[in-house]
Amino acid sequence: MQSLQQKASEWSGVSTDDAFAIDDGDLFHTLGLQTFVTLSTNFYNRVYDDDQDWFRSIFGNSDKETAIQNQYEFLVQRMGGPPLYSQRRGHPALIARHRPFPVTHEAAERWLHHMGQALDSTSAIDDDSKIKLTNFFRHTAYFLVAGVERKDQHHHTPCKDAALKQHPC
Ligand code: HEM
Repeated sequence: MQSLQQKASEWSGVSTDDAFAIDDGDLFHTLGLQTFVTLSTNFYNRVYDDDQDWFRSIFGNSDKETAIQNQYEFLVQRMGGPPLYSQRRGHPALIARHRPFPVTHEAAERWLHHMGQALDSTSAIDDDSKIKLTNFFRHTAYFLVAGVERKDQHHHTPCKDAALKQHPC
């Protein structure tokens, strides 16, 4: 069976190497905490304002401020900063945490559309960091699509697969 990472690469068009180029430098120290707060705020402002009801309603049971904090704390931790997310929420387990939501290909594209605009409107992000983050987001979005889909079918826990240890699932 194809691994979730293979599926993520196939669907996203982003190789695993490009997706994990975020680990080459130290993006947290390059960009700083405030940049991630701004990025997540810009992202969720767009999501909660989306004129497409089907997408906005996926976030209907989530409080915007909490969603912003969940995301920037995760990103800070994943990009080499302090483990703010795990201190408050535990293991990220992103596939499991996305399972209640309809994480379809269409939803991934809409999520990525808003994130692309959020990256563009966060001026503190230099071009090299933007490319790395874009590839990471694209690959991870499709990793989640593949993971949620597979979990629905087989009810196993892909995050426990040794081969997936590197992925922030
Ligand atoms: C949480 C949807 C992709 C990281 C959430 C939530 C929703 C959601 C509805 C709940 C909001 C909250 O209370 O925090 C989606 C959809 C995606 C997607 C439809 C499309 C593919 C991603 C990607 C990442 C990500 C690509 C990371 C790169 C997170 C994190 C949380 C979260 C860290 C907080 C989880 C928690 O602590 O409960 N997402 N997401 N999501 N998402 Fe996504």
